[in-house]
Amino acid sequence: MAAPNIETIVSLAKRRGFVFPSSEIYGGLGSAWDYGPLGVELSNNVKQQWWRWMVHERDDMEGIDSSIILNRLVWKYSGHEETFSDPLVDCRDCNSRLRADKLTVKSGAPMNPQRINYEEALQQKLLACPNCGSTNLTEPRPFNLMFRTTLGAAAEEDDPFALAYLRPETAQGIFINFLNIQTTLRRKIPFGIAQIGKSFRNEVTPGNFIFRTREFEQMEMEYFVKPGEDERVHQEWIDLCFDWYKSLGLAADNLRLYEQPKEELAHYAKRTVDIHYRFFPERAEDERQWDELMGVANRTDFDLRAHSKKPEDAEGKRFNPDSTEDLSYFDEATKERYYPYVIEPAAGVNRSVLAFLMDAYTERTTDKNETRVVLKLHPALAPIKAAVLPLAKNKPEIVGMAKAIKRSLQPTLRAVYDDTGGIGKLYARQDEIGTPCCVTVDHQSLEDEAVTVRDRDTWEQERIKVADLREHLQRRLNEK
Ligand code: GAP
Repeated sequence: MAAPNIETIVSLAKRRGFVFPSSEIYGGLGSAWDYGPLGVELSNNVKQQWWRWMVHERDDMEGIDSSIILNRLVWKYSGHEETFSDPLVDCRDCNSRLRADKLTVKSGAPMNPQRINYEEALQQKLLACPNCGSTNLTEPRPFNLMFRTTLGAAAEEDDPFALAYLRPETAQGIFINFLNIQTTLRRKIPFGIAQIGKSFRNEVTPGNFIFRTREFEQMEMEYFVKPGEDERVHQEWIDLCFDWYKSLGLAADNLRLYEQPKEELAHYAKRTVDIHYRFFPERAEDERQWDELMGVANRTDFDLRAHSKKPEDAEGKRFNPDSTEDLSYFDEATKERYYPYVIEPAAGVNRSVLAFLMDAYTERTTDKNETRVVLKLHPALAPIKAAVLPLAKNKPEIVGMAKAIKRSLQPTLRAVYDDTGGIGKLYARQDEIGTPCCVTVDHQSLEDEAVTVRDRDTWEQERIKVADLREHLQRRLNEK
């Protein structure tokens, strides 16, 4: 079956309560989305799987949860105040405000769409407005993506002493806690610090559902290594991250590695490899079908040096008069002092949720020639693990038994009870939201203390004793 496009997922997400357009009763808010009851379960499961894999199952990892609003100086010395911007252009014909690096390449223009020098291309009128096709565009100018706010009751909007930012990445909260964690947990290099949390960017052109929004969640990890070890460890993390997505069900065909060319690298990066997902399968050109799911960067020692009070090089180039600490590391074994290099796998929660939904989407035809949506999510990600369904909702003994079974399951797995339709309809609803198992209680159950367990992927049914049900479901959920 052809992969679904994002529109198909938007419609399923709204219809079944995964994701709703935010503030809809007031006309919405451009590109803001709210997770509904199923979306919040799916998103929590993605984060839980990542945390377990990244933190709990390793010996060299710690986790933190830092503030969203940090001292403004963090963003001064990280380089974000100066460089965290997108090149902005206006279309003089239709007044659209656009990102210069996201303009449409005019058909026939002799360019690789992934490697455009957009300043030159704009001058040569090779780029066009994606909304009206005009090449009558302004010169690009930088637009800083950080959201500004002011701290304190008395603060005026333009008071420089009260100015603060909502963080545009979770990473800086890790760097400024490097020393706290290294000393309190007595960690030796190499080790990593992981964090999951919200980030904010005043994106010029948000869009494509939850792919690019102004408020989003990140799962980031900063891994501190000895300089010289960085290139090998970087490659290891690229492979590990690629495999993590595959282990949770993403098809290898829909994933690829993308080596960022030098001109695309962030100001701190020596090398960055992105993991791309085929988010736009409907686009004709292969290159435009792909976009970033996560990035794995070698950030060198840029951040730890930038936040350190001491100058390291003779010219004192990175001298920081505001920091009170030196974030260098002393290696007791070799008696060397150095600034660790940092390898950073940085993933988006929302983009991961979107990729898992797209990859899980399938359609199946029934005996009666009806098309059913079956969301084949990995069981660990499925919002609901088991639905308990009574075959006859007007029979109090059956209803009572089904509700009791649901209650007995719910301390260990997410189970629901549903009696709002005939059994065929109830199965179809659970298939559409990715529930791996349906448990049906029928007249026979009252006699033999057994239920029918139906599998989402095969539609096969098995009779299972109620006493063995929990173990049976756990086995099914641990498969794959
Ligand atoms: N600390 C490095 C960093 O933030 P990034 O490539 O800018 O790197 C990491 O962001 C990930 O965060 C991206 O791969 C993407 O999944 C997610 N992300 C970034 N901007 C986003 C946005 N506006 N909306 C949704 N997700 C976003």
